Amino acid sequence: MTHAEATARAAFLRTELHRHNRLYYIEARPEISDQAFDTLLRELQDIEAAFPDLVTPDSPTQRVGGAPIEGFTQIRHTVPMMSLDNTYSEAEMIAFFLRLQKGLGRESIRCVIEPKVDGVAISVRYENGVLKHAATRGDGQTGDDVSANARTIQSLPLRLPADCPQTLEARGEVFMPKEGFAKLNEERESAGEPRFANPRNATAGTLKQLDPRIVARRPLDIVFYGIVDASADAAAPADDLFSAAPGGPQSQSEVHALLAKAGLRKADLIWKADSAEGLLAAIRELDEKRKTLPYETDGAVIKVDSSADQRELGATSKAPRWAIAYKYQPEQAETRLLAVDIQVGRTGALTPVARLEPVFLSGSTVSNATLHNFEEIERKDIRVGDLVVIEKAGEIIPAVVMVKKESRTGDETAIPRPPHCPVCGTAVHQDEEQVVIRCPNPHCPEVVKRRLEHFCSRGAMDIRGLGESVVAQLVDARLVRDAADLYDLDALKLAGLERQGSKSIENLLKALAESKQQPPWRLVFGLGILHVGVTAARTLIEHFGGVDAIAAASIEELTQCPDIGAVVAPSIHAWFRDPVNAALLDRLRAAGLTFTQRSVEAASDKLKGTTWVLTGALSQPREEIADLIRAHGGKVSGSVSGKTTYLLAGEDAGSKLDKAAKLGVAVVSEEMFRAML
Ligand code: IVH
Repeated sequence: MTHAEATARAAFLRTELHRHNRLYYIEARPEISDQAFDTLLRELQDIEAAFPDLVTPDSPTQRVGGAPIEGFTQIRHTVPMMSLDNTYSEAEMIAFFLRLQKGLGRESIRCVIEPKVDGVAISVRYENGVLKHAATRGDGQTGDDVSANARTIQSLPLRLPADCPQTLEARGEVFMPKEGFAKLNEERESAGEPRFANPRNATAGTLKQLDPRIVARRPLDIVFYGIVDASADAAAPADDLFSAAPGGPQSQSEVHALLAKAGLRKADLIWKADSAEGLLAAIRELDEKRKTLPYETDGAVIKVDSSADQRELGATSKAPRWAIAYKYQPEQAETRLLAVDIQVGRTGALTPVARLEPVFLSGSTVSNATLHNFEEIERKDIRVGDLVVIEKAGEIIPAVVMVKKESRTGDETAIPRPPHCPVCGTAVHQDEEQVVIRCPNPHCPEVVKRRLEHFCSRGAMDIRGLGESVVAQLVDARLVRDAADLYDLDALKLAGLERQGSKSIENLLKALAESKQQPPWRLVFGLGILHVGVTAARTLIEHFGGVDAIAAASIEELTQCPDIGAVVAPSIHAWFRDPVNAALLDRLRAAGLTFTQRSVEAASDKLKGTTWVLTGALSQPREEIADLIRAHGGKVSGSVSGKTTYLLAGEDAGSKLDKAAKLGVAVVSEEMFRAML
C-alpha cells in the first residue's frame, strides 16, 4: 500500500467507523455486526501502525487508551461549572415555581424536566469539529484534563458532524451503567480487588485513573444536558451560564435539539411543563420510570426553558435561579442489627457482614447488609443491637447508611476490630491505610476454600461438581489443601464424601481429568493472582504464549504486555517468585495441566457465534484454515446461506462471491481474517 492509498483508505475507514459508532451508540440502530466493526477498526489500526503519521487525535483507534500519564493538567473552564440548589419536598418545588412567577411577572412559565444523573460532571469541548478536551468540574473554575480517559467512552463522538457548530462546549455527566457496574464488581471480586460501593464511586475512581488503558476496559458512558458554547469559530465563548450561548441555542429545548444533531447522547426521558402541577406530575412520573434507566438517578432537574427567561432570572454566586434539583428519597428501611459476622475472602480479607432483623426494602426481604470494612463501622459508630437505616445504593446487597443513635438503650455492644482470624486464629494484618484487615495465614481453611472455589469456578478451570459444599468437605477432611491436591484425588479418597454417589464421584474425576485440557489463560486466572482478572489472564497468555514465560518475565517485560500496568505487573512478578507458588505450579505441571497455548486447539472464542464459508485460493489448505476458525470458536460450512456470517474469499473466488453479495453476507479477505484473530 502506498502512502497515498493508505491516506485515502484511513480517511474512509475513520468516517465509516464514526458513522457506525453513532448508529450503534446514539441511534441504537446498528447496520453491521460487532465483528464487522472490529474488522474495520483493526484494518485502520494496521494502517496507522504502518504509517504512524496518519494517526489523528479523532481516530477511533485512539479510544483503546493511550500511554499512562504522570498526573492531570488543569483546564480553566470557559464558563464556570456551577452547581444546583436542591429541594427535597413538593412544597419546596411549589415555592420554586412561585419564585419563577414572581421573577418573570407572569403565570405560565415553560420548564423542562430532566433526570438528575448520578455520575461525575464533565465539560467536553470541540474545536474545529474535533474533540479538544474533556475536563472535570474541579472547583467550578478549573478542573482536571481527563481527555485521554474520556476518549475511551465509545458513545462520545471524537468528531462532530459537519452540519453543526464546529466550536461546541457541552456539559454532561459521565456514568457507569448499572449493568456494567455489577459486572465490573464481580470481576474485581474475582481478581481479589475491593468492590466499588456504588456506580458513582466507580465512575469517579475510573476517571481519576492515570492509565487510560484501564479506563478503556471499564464501561463508562456519558449523557449531556447542556451547551455553554456553540459558535462557528472558537473566538466567542458564552458570556452566560448555560443554555444562553450567543448564536447558539436559545432555549433548553433547542439545547436538546442541538445535542441530538451533534450526536451527543442526551437523557432518555424529558418532560415539559408550564405550571406547578405539571412540574409535580413530571417529577412523580420520572420517579416511577427512573428504575428502568440504564444509569442511577438521584433526582429530577427542573430548568426554565427559554434562555431569555434564564437571563432575566440570573444566578447567585453558586447556582442559577432558573434551575433546581428535586432530590428523591433513596429507598431506605429501618431495622435492628442483630449480629456482625466476619467473612474471610480469597485474599484473606476479613469483611464484616451485618445480620439484620428481616425487613422489606425495594421489592425484597433483606436480612444481610454489607458493612464494607471496620474503618466504616468505626466512622459510623455502628454497634450490635442498634436500630440502623439501610439503603440500596446501586448494589443488590444493601448497605448500612446510619445509626439511629437516639434510640439507643445503652445495651448496644461495640464491634471491635478482630485481632485474630475468626477461623484459624492467626493474628491479623492491617494494611497501611488501616482499612483492610487480612488473615495472613495462607493455610487458613477459609482462605484455602475460597481459593479452591475460585480455581474450580466457571470463569476459571470450570470443573463441574466442585462447588462450595464439595470443596468445604474436601478441605475439612484434609484431602485437599491446594489446587494440585485436586489432581491427586481418586475414587477411594472421595468415597467418604457426603451426598456423593459413585456416579457423581465418577463425574467429578472425569471433570478433573478434562480440566487438564483447559486453555492456559484459565489456569492463570484460576491461580488467583491479585489484580489478575479474566482479561489480564487472557492477554498475558496471548502475549507470552504460556505460563512459564509469564513466570520468567521481569516486571519490565510484564508491563510491555498490553493492559498490564504498574500495579498488576509487580503483583504477578511477586506471585511467581513465591516458593510455595512455584512448588504448586510444578505439581500442576506434573499433573498434566496445559501450560502453553496450543497454536491451533482452542485458541480463543473470538469467532464465537460466526459461521464461515471458504472460497478461492487461500494461503493454506482449506481444512487447516477451517481448523483455525473452529479453534477460535467459529463454525465452518460448505455453502453460502442466510446463516453465513462471513465469506472468506481468496483469489479467483467464483459463484460463492455472487451469492454472498445477493444475500448481503460480509466478504472478508484472508488478510482481514488474520487481523480478526
Ligand atoms: S444542570 C448550572 N442537568 O448535578 C448547573 N445537572 O447538583 C447546571 N447533573 O454539577 C447543571 N444531571 O453534574 C444539570 N440533567 C442535569 C443533570 C445535572 C446531573 C449534575 C451536574 C451538576 C450537579 C448539580
